[in-house]
Amino acid sequence: MDRLDKRLAATGRWSRKEARELIRGGRVSVDGAVCRAPEHKPAPDAAIAVDGADIGSGGPVYLMLNKPAGVVSSTDEPGERTVLDLLGEDYQNIGLFPAGRLDKDTEGLLLLTNDGPLAHRLLSPRRHVDKVYYVEVDGTLDEGDRSAVRAGVALGDGYQCLPGELELLSPGSAHITLHEGKYHQVKRMMAALGKPVTYLKRVRFGPLALDEGLPKGGWRPLTGQELEAIFSQ
Ligand code: URA
Repeated sequence: MDRLDKRLAATGRWSRKEARELIRGGRVSVDGAVCRAPEHKPAPDAAIAVDGADIGSGGPVYLMLNKPAGVVSSTDEPGERTVLDLLGEDYQNIGLFPAGRLDKDTEGLLLLTNDGPLAHRLLSPRRHVDKVYYVEVDGTLDEGDRSAVRAGVALGDGYQCLPGELELLSPGSAHITLHEGKYHQVKRMMAALGKPVTYLKRVRFGPLALDEGLPKGGWRPLTGQELEAIFSQ
């Protein structure tokens, strides 16, 4: 049996140190009773909750969400509508969190899971899970932009992006493929090229392609094939 702090850290949502702080702060309950002992070893089927929200004792869950604009990619942000608010009641308290983030105004593919180790693997910079975005800009994209993205754009703060790919779709729209995930990366790349983003949507995350049949705000469990694909990443 694992210690309580280890059980929390295994969700991938907190480090061992953060877990210990939560526990000592009286925010963690085991089978409904507050437990302040990080070394306590709950039974494998114990219901563990942080701030009243179950960390998930059932099997792991994997959902594909078509994130709409206006919703934040976190599980709890006061005053904001979060991606969890879009899910049904059954999915509210099972420890789901988004594997990666999209800006509030960005739409498209977000993987929600309570499988911390898998999320860590997919987000690890060493693995370079490709992300593809559909982007519209204010301005006209051209061959020069394509070459610049292929060479690696230098951002305003001096950060040198890894080479990516830009596939021009129309004068003002493209698919852009990134092999890294820096904060506001597409927006900052396009700003550096002098063509600010007016619309952004993620259409691919590693082997997962956005199910275009999902309406904005719609979600569904991953299919068997999709699960196989993300586990073989
Ligand atoms: N790049 C951005 O600028 N925003 C996102 O939400 C994702 C990638």
